[in-house]
Amino acid sequence: MSDQQLDRQPDRQSPIGVFDSGMGGLTVLSALAKAMPNEQFIYLGDSARLPYGTKSPETVVRYARQASKELVRRGVKALVVACNTASASALKILAEDFSPLPVYGVVDPGARAAAKQADASGVLVLATESTILGGAYQRALLKKNPSLTIYGRACPLWVTLAEQGWVNEQATSLTQHTLEHGLRGFVDDLVSTSNHPKTVLLGCTHFPLFRQQIEALVGADVQVVDSAQTTAATVSHDLLKLELLRDTPSSDDETVFLATDGVERFRKVGGYFFGGPLSNVSLVDL
Ligand code: DGL
Repeated sequence: MSDQQLDRQPDRQSPIGVFDSGMGGLTVLSALAKAMPNEQFIYLGDSARLPYGTKSPETVVRYARQASKELVRRGVKALVVACNTASASALKILAEDFSPLPVYGVVDPGARAAAKQADASGVLVLATESTILGGAYQRALLKKNPSLTIYGRACPLWVTLAEQGWVNEQATSLTQHTLEHGLRGFVDDLVSTSNHPKTVLLGCTHFPLFRQQIEALVGADVQVVDSAQTTAATVSHDLLKLELLRDTPSSDDETVFLATDGVERFRKVGGYFFGGPLSNVSLVDL
């Protein structure tokens, strides 16, 4: 047993821990909160060290372990790695480290959502450099459907734009240009031919912030999917099976938000991701 493993069984009254490199995981948190309305959540955004997507897998594993350790120290009953980059590099290690705590990632549920939707034209995965280079989505998708054609595209600049909250009314021509740049080739060449992939998977939790713009760019015959809903469904189904879901609402249902830097900005910009204002944001040092 490692020094991080739990010396107790998870308690159904405890909160659920969720973490991401920054605010992107708030899109997943929002789906989790809707799927499990009785639960209390602690969300940790490692804003001081974002982006994870351009770092080596070893560094991402180290950061993910530290973030998870902080949530476990706060007594969570389950851990949701709401970051594709960390899920791709660290999920197995975290599950071993913190056993018997249930640990969930977003890559497998995202792949399931895309594979369900995809036809013979294939899937375009948009994600961070690390996620694309590591091939986690390619593997997960092929496991669901070995005959799928998979295209991958790293869009690292989108993470920065999303963290700045440069979306909707704040969207500028720079945002639009950066989104077009990320989809170059796909939009210019593939959309003009009939055999372009009809499914686009947002394989980074920051990207749903630009869903409307991405949908407009890829065209109406392309379905855009992300992992938030399928992750929430997976987690709630599994916790129910493990008898770890609360029967009644938590008396303290306020979500605790932790950020490793920029609390004020987290409070302000986080609302775009979460779909509502964030109160209760505190600074945490890992
Ligand atoms: N939101 C993270 C993901 O889903 C990564 C963004 C980053 O830190 O690069 O992959």
